[in-house]
Amino acid sequence: MSATVIDGKAFAAKVRGQVAEHVTRLKDKHEITPGLAVVLVGEDPASQVYVRSKGKMTVEVGMKSVEHKLDADTSEADLLAVIDKLNNDASIHGILVQLPLPGHLNEDLVINSIDPAKDVDGFHISNVGLLGTGQKSMVPCTPLGCLMMLRDHHGSLSGMDAVVIGRSNIVGKPMAQLLLGDSCTVTIAHSRTKDLPEVVKRADIVVAAVGRPEMVPGDWIKPGATVIDVGINRLDAPEKGEGKTRLVGDVEYDSCAAVAGAISPVPGGVGPMTIACLLANTLTACCRANGLEEPAGLTA
Ligand code: GUN
Repeated sequence: MSATVIDGKAFAAKVRGQVAEHVTRLKDKHEITPGLAVVLVGEDPASQVYVRSKGKMTVEVGMKSVEHKLDADTSEADLLAVIDKLNNDASIHGILVQLPLPGHLNEDLVINSIDPAKDVDGFHISNVGLLGTGQKSMVPCTPLGCLMMLRDHHGSLSGMDAVVIGRSNIVGKPMAQLLLGDSCTVTIAHSRTKDLPEVVKRADIVVAAVGRPEMVPGDWIKPGATVIDVGINRLDAPEKGEGKTRLVGDVEYDSCAAVAGAISPVPGGVGPMTIACLLANTLTACCRANGLEEPAGLTA
């Protein structure tokens, strides 16, 4: 069997197109422009790349984009003051504080100081609680992207066995909640899980989010299962030339693709969906803030 490739790049472009259409309608009918503010503290190169890309795509879908770049030694009080100002700015509907933050800043405190209604990352403790109790919330972007891809591929996920490998607050735990919300039977596996290959082999859906390059080989996968690879790992690739690198996921692509029914590649799978969902969340937050109907198909 050779797996269907789940093309996240194309799907993300479609989602951004839908967001852009809604933004045009909001502007034309209600004279409202959704606004997204991204706060970056310090000069982490990977974070700078993400933030640039977020800003560009925010503008491309017709939204207002604001960036706050703060020095690495910014005090907690100064960062909280920036967030407070954004919380009270009616032209801003989404606030994202890029993680990781420099070590002297308390990440939980900072995230929980964002107005939950503007928390487009879905990391605020209120949103975590709302998601966990099946109530309307802001949903973390990467798991939301995975859910959209799975729904697009399968239609209903009801009754499927899903195994999420990884228990992070950003991906693993919210992913499990979303799959449970769609009536999957969900297992969260992690580094202490006994007989991990056996556990994974039971799954109709495998979501790998461990951050370990090519950890999941094809012989752990049930024939025909759907594999969603959240990992983005950069490995040295001397075969491509000196100093060159290549991106790999958390699953061994070739061996898994030979067994799976469907698989998302790295790059071009989940990655592009994360920013698309950030834009979708900003649109959702903007509609909720203005008492307008939420766009269908762009939320959990
Ligand atoms: N750093 C890496 N990914 C993310 C993300 O999705 N949200 C935030 N806030 N920071 C990140």
